[in-house]
Amino acid sequence: MNILIVYDSLYGNTKKIALEMLDALLQQKESFGQKMKVEAMYVQDVTQEHLLEADLLIVGSPTHGGRAKPSMQMFLDAIPLGALTHKKVAVFDTRFLEREQNFALRALLKTIGYAAPKIADVLQKKGGEIVLPPEGFIVKGKTGPISNGELERAREWAIQVIQSIL
Ligand SMILES: Cc1cc2nc3c(=O)[nH]c(=O)nc-3n(C[C@H](O)[C@H](O)[C@H](O)COP(=O)(O)O)c2cc1C
Repeated sequence: MNILIVYDSLYGNTKKIALEMLDALLQQKESFGQKMKVEAMYVQDVTQEHLLEADLLIVGSPTHGGRAKPSMQMFLDAIPLGALTHKKVAVFDTRFLEREQNFALRALLKTIGYAAPKIADVLQKKGGEIVLPPEGFIVKGKTGPISNGELERAREWAIQVIQSIL
């Protein structure tokens, strides 16, 4: 099975989470009982050929204004309809924690939503099969840091993704 983790990142937090997932999957590779290749790539380096080769895509973006970062959106738009047929997909984002924000920002975050569910919708429209609900990992501020425990949660989530398709 070919697993490709595609990430976007402005300040490095989403990249760090993606690489943590990569590390967790590489460490557990032998225990999954089938041959696996796992790679993580920055979204702007991913070509249609990379997508063609992947059996499972794990896609992650920071949340910007309630949706994916623009470079991730361009990547998603460029995927032809049907190109993800027979491919499994799981999506995560990084985001603020609503209850740590002031009233106004909390209301705004609730209204505009987050990147991962929107990315999942697009990937599904392009033919992908979503294997786990979209997940959010928490950062404390715009530039980070990643909240306590989130790197460990990211490792566990990535393993759950694989377990859900075995
Ligand atoms: C332009 C901009 C818009 C943002 N909008 C949101 C938002 O709507 N909701 C949210 O939870 N976080 C928002 N954030 C905070 C991002 O979640 C945070 O910067 C990101 O998770 C950090 O990831 P990165 O280090 O990979 O760039 C925004 C950040 C920027 C720079």
